[in-house]
Amino acid sequence: MAKVTIIGAGQAGATTAHWLAERGIADLVLVDIREGVARGKALDLMQAMPVIGSDAELVGTGDYEETVGSDIVVITAGAARKPGMQREDLLTINSLIVETTVQESLQHSPDAVLIILTNPLDAMSLVALRASGLPRERVLGQAGILDSARMRCFVAMELGVSVENVHCYVLGGHGDSMVPLVRHSNVAGVPLVDILPTDRLEAIVERTRKAGGEIISLLGTGSAYYAPGAALAQMVEAVLLDRHRIVPASVYLQGEYGLSGICFGVPVQLGRGGMERILELDLNPEEQQALQASAAYVRETIEALPD
Ligand code: APR
Repeated sequence: MAKVTIIGAGQAGATTAHWLAERGIADLVLVDIREGVARGKALDLMQAMPVIGSDAELVGTGDYEETVGSDIVVITAGAARKPGMQREDLLTINSLIVETTVQESLQHSPDAVLIILTNPLDAMSLVALRASGLPRERVLGQAGILDSARMRCFVAMELGVSVENVHCYVLGGHGDSMVPLVRHSNVAGVPLVDILPTDRLEAIVERTRKAGGEIISLLGTGSAYYAPGAALAQMVEAVLLDRHRIVPASVYLQGEYGLSGICFGVPVQLGRGGMERILELDLNPEEQQALQASAAYVRETIEALPD
């Protein structure tokens, strides 16, 4: 069985383990500085396996020795913003956590593909790339599947159709500047603009941009984890099973879309080695402008990273 390590056994990490364990495609190791939490959640999930009929094995630990030889390492470790903290404070704390967990993970699993979830996502993906020294193909950030799924969900709710018939593509940075590509989105092949009135479409785009914040304010504490976990599980599956699946993900750009030196959400094809290629969509001037604006925002965050 393949082996997947998830660093951070908090809400997002444990939920990713849940979605993955149900698929039964890998044994899972949950690592957390709160060792008891990692062990407890792994044990709880393990005890669910007889009920759902999966032979996935789960281990919870604070010790990286258990992670040796992982095929994929998912990074969800990070601190959440507390009252009074600035964005830069979170950036400093989380970049340190991502840097150390990536380095520690790779010492034990030098051949692993890394998938990052910790926010701010695009900046943390760059931190992971730099800290790992890996080729860009092996460092992927999860954001686009989640953002696109949120838009698909809202369109399906609006039209009363199956989510499977709704195809939406959200590119760009993971934040309010994200770029929902309305022109490329459709319901069973019919462009969204031909089905939804402009005001409803605009409302859906706006709700998609703010979807993470909507959940944070409803929860009162913490951020979303079911959909982020499901999105991570889909990326893990695409890599492990060599699906050659095309999804939006944050990867390091070297000239694609006219952008370089940042990790940014673009359509990529995923297979056993990680990113197989970047797809360059034909964007109109308005879409290109939106993407550039989103990239400028991501750059600002990166510039605020500690040296
Ligand atoms: N090594 C291992 N685990 C760590 C480390 C570390 N150095 N630092 C923090 N952690 C663990 C915490 O102990 C906690 O269990 O990371 C976990 C984070 O879990 P939560 O606080 O529940 O946060 P979660 O909702 O899972 O979000 C994690 O993903 O979506 C993003 O914005 C979110 O950056 C955040 C991350």
